[in-house]
This record gives sequence, C-alpha cells and structure tokens, in this order.
Amino acid sequence: MKVLVVGGGGREHAIAAALAASGSTIYSVMRNHNPGIARLAKEYRLIKETDVPAVTEFAASRSVEMAVIGPEAPLEVGLADALEAKGIGCVGPRKEAARLEISKSFTREIMRRHQVPGNIDFAAFDDIESAKRYVLDNDRDMVVKPVGLTGGKGVKVMGEHLLTKQDTVRYLEEIFEHRIGGGGVVLEEKLVGEEFTLQAFCDGKSVVPMPLVQDHKRAYEGDVGPNTGGMGAYSQEDHLLPFVTARERDAALDIMRRTIEAMRSEGHEYRGILYGQFMNTRDGPRVIEYNARFGDPEAMNVLSILASSFTDVCAGIADGNLSPSKVSFMDKATVCKYVVPRGYGTEPAVGKEVRVDERAIAKVGAKAYYAMVSEENGRVLTTTSRAVGVVGIDDTIEAAERACERALTYVTGDALFVRHDIGRPDVIRMRVEHMRQVRS
Ligand code: AMP
Ligand code: GLY
Repeated sequence: MKVLVVGGGGREHAIAAALAASGSTIYSVMRNHNPGIARLAKEYRLIKETDVPAVTEFAASRSVEMAVIGPEAPLEVGLADALEAKGIGCVGPRKEAARLEISKSFTREIMRRHQVPGNIDFAAFDDIESAKRYVLDNDRDMVVKPVGLTGGKGVKVMGEHLLTKQDTVRYLEEIFEHRIGGGGVVLEEKLVGEEFTLQAFCDGKSVVPMPLVQDHKRAYEGDVGPNTGGMGAYSQEDHLLPFVTARERDAALDIMRRTIEAMRSEGHEYRGILYGQFMNTRDGPRVIEYNARFGDPEAMNVLSILASSFTDVCAGIADGNLSPSKVSFMDKATVCKYVVPRGYGTEPAVGKEVRVDERAIAKVGAKAYYAMVSEENGRVLTTTSRAVGVVGIDDTIEAAERACERALTYVTGDALFVRHDIGRPDVIRMRVEHMRQVRS
C-alpha cells in the first residue's frame, strides 16, 4: 500500500518504520531532512506540513492510497478534509473533529453536554474583571490556562507557579494585557495525583487502547526546569503503570469511548489517534486534555512493541472498520529517552553534529528514531528541537531502562543533553509513593 507520512519528527520516524515493516511503501512530507524517514521513503518532499495544496498535490500525483498525519498543525488547517476530498483515507481527524485538541473549551463543553465522566469544573472568561472576580470569590486552588494554543507553556498552577491570589491576579493581567494564547482564559479545578497517557486507535466507532505511557515534560532531572514537548517516557510490560490499576485504566478508556460516542452523535466521526492525558486522582482518572494525534515521544514507546501489522491497523482506521481483535502489543516494557541539543527549552545549541551508531544500538536490542534534526552533506545536525529518541525494550521497566542507557552511549556529539532519570527505579518508587498518599 502507498502511504503518505506527514511530519518529520521522532513520532513520524516511528510511524514510518512501523508502516514500512508491515509492507507499506512510504511517501513523506516534512520540513526538515529527517535521515531516518528519508531512508525509509520511496520519495520525500521538504515542504511545510501545513501547506495543504502542496501536500495534497504531492499525494494525488503519486497515487497515494492513505495518509498518516503525525502533528496537530496540519489537522488544524484541514489537511485530512482536503486529502479525503481526493479519495485518500486518513489516520488523523478532520478539522471539526480535531477541535478535541485545538479548543480546550470545546472539549470540556462536549463532555459536559453528554455527561461524560472524568470532566472537571471549569469556567471560561474573555474579560479580565470576571476572571479576577472568579479567582477572588473562590477558595479552591485552580489552574490558569490561556484559551488558545501556547505550546503548553501558558499553563500555571496555583500552589506551584502561583503562590498567592495576588500572583494569580497578576498572571491574569499579563494574559489579557499581552494577549497570551489569544487573550481569553480558562480557569480549571486543580487536580492532584499522577499523570498518565492513554492513546487509542479510533475508526469513528471503535476505540482500541494502546499500552499506558508516562511522559516527562520538564526539561531537567527531578522534574524541574521549563516545560518541553516531552523529554522521555516509559511503559510497563503489562501495559499498565506502577501507579495505575487495570480498573483505573478501564475507567480512562470508558471516558475516551464516551467522548468519541458524543462526537459521533454530534456528527463528528473521529478517525485517527486519540491521546488522552489523564490525572489519576483519589476519585479515579480525570481528563487534563486530549490530543488528536500520537504523543511524541509516546508514539515511539508503543509502536516499538506493536505486534500486529500497523498498515492493517491504519487501513482499518481510515476505512472505519478497525477490528479490535487485530490489534496486539508485545508484553514488553519500554523506556524512551530523548537526546536533545544542550540548552533545549531555553537556548538550544543549534547546528551541532549528532552521531548515531545504529548498528550498535540494534545489537543491544534498542531502537533509535531521528527527530527534529537535519541532514546536511552527510552530517546530522541539531535544530532548536529534540534530536534523537532512543528506546530500550525488555521484560521489565528496569531492564528496558538499562538497555536504553546502553544504547545512549552510541549517540554522541559535543552539545547534547539527556534526562537520565527517566524510568529509573528510584523515580518510579517516588511516583508510586505519591499515588499511595493521594489515595489515602
Ligand atoms: P496542558 O497544556 O493542558 O497539557 O497542561 C500542562 C501541564 O499542566 C499538565 O501536564 C499538568 O501537569 C498541568 N495541568 C494542566 N491542567 C491541570 C489541572 N486541571 N490540574 C492540575 N494540573 C494540571
Ligand atoms: N508528549 C506530549 C505530546 O506529544 O503532546
């Protein structure tokens, strides 16, 4: 099958690898020259993924049969709508359905209308005075979120980033004055617990789960420093997490199924990947947000252990007839750590060489996926974003973490940084202990 892969990051390298391994012929569009994807592709174009006419023209001219859309930006501008209009089936929702990621208030409101469990108290404001009054009149801790997309950097939590009501009011003033995220704000109930991610394949009706994953958003070890796209993530061999029970996972899946059902009943068939970000609280899982795509790095964790044919899974999603019995994952744990340019998150070291000894990495049973690097004259160079995702795979998280660390010694360069604490036993023990306290 001829498949177009949209995007040039680590997530898309993992997507292209899983498609190629299950017999697809890969066509790629990406902004950067990702050497991993370029090597797998029969043909690639270096264009903006949001250039809908150019992407559609390339796909149609090559008689591509299906497209897998990696990032959210092309979904927001209607790439799936345009490709489907040309008869190309998509893994990635149409623009209207992608609002589950694009608009924080759309999601909360559709969940409220359909009484989907897992929703939380929220209020949306487009004027500063009412927002201030809401903060001053309420005694509960809240989370302040600029209403539009801010790359995850606009969210501030009372008790963590905002220590007093005065701090909160000042932040509201800043949002409205500088029009951060468009200048409106959502104030949400603050959740306490441990975060986890549940990704699922959706064909409009069926919602088929993947193994749970926990990402690490903060740039530095010990969960400090600026928020990033994600520094690394791990998954457990039984597809749960050390602090999430089967019952809690099933509750999260039920929330996602009911959300997709609510979308369908309002005329939005959701075909693609649904990414649920949850807080596991003392009362069970609550939705922090949805994304309309695989997570990055989370895609690398789950696709590395997919046992079934990814090409068949994607065809089932695009055609609206995904058979849940066709989806299975190996009973393996994974630990993924991202090699990033030094200074990533603030002042990344751009244009520095990264060397990856792929053969040695394969020998230790690990995988390496190229991310936002660019190959120039045979050299792989860093950009401002994450460089190479390294995934260790083994029978337990502990063993997978060790495999990841062994493999990381084969990624070299002068200006690189890795959060080595991800997946380490002491860090996981802290999460389990925190969850125990939350439950008690
Ligand atoms: P978001 O951009 O919505 O993913 O939020 C970024 C981060 O802020 C999340 O990963 C959480 O750690 C935190 N966060 C967001 N919403 C809440 C909430 N309602 N309660 C507690 N923490 C939150
Ligand atoms: N790793 C978080 C995300 O892809 O949104």
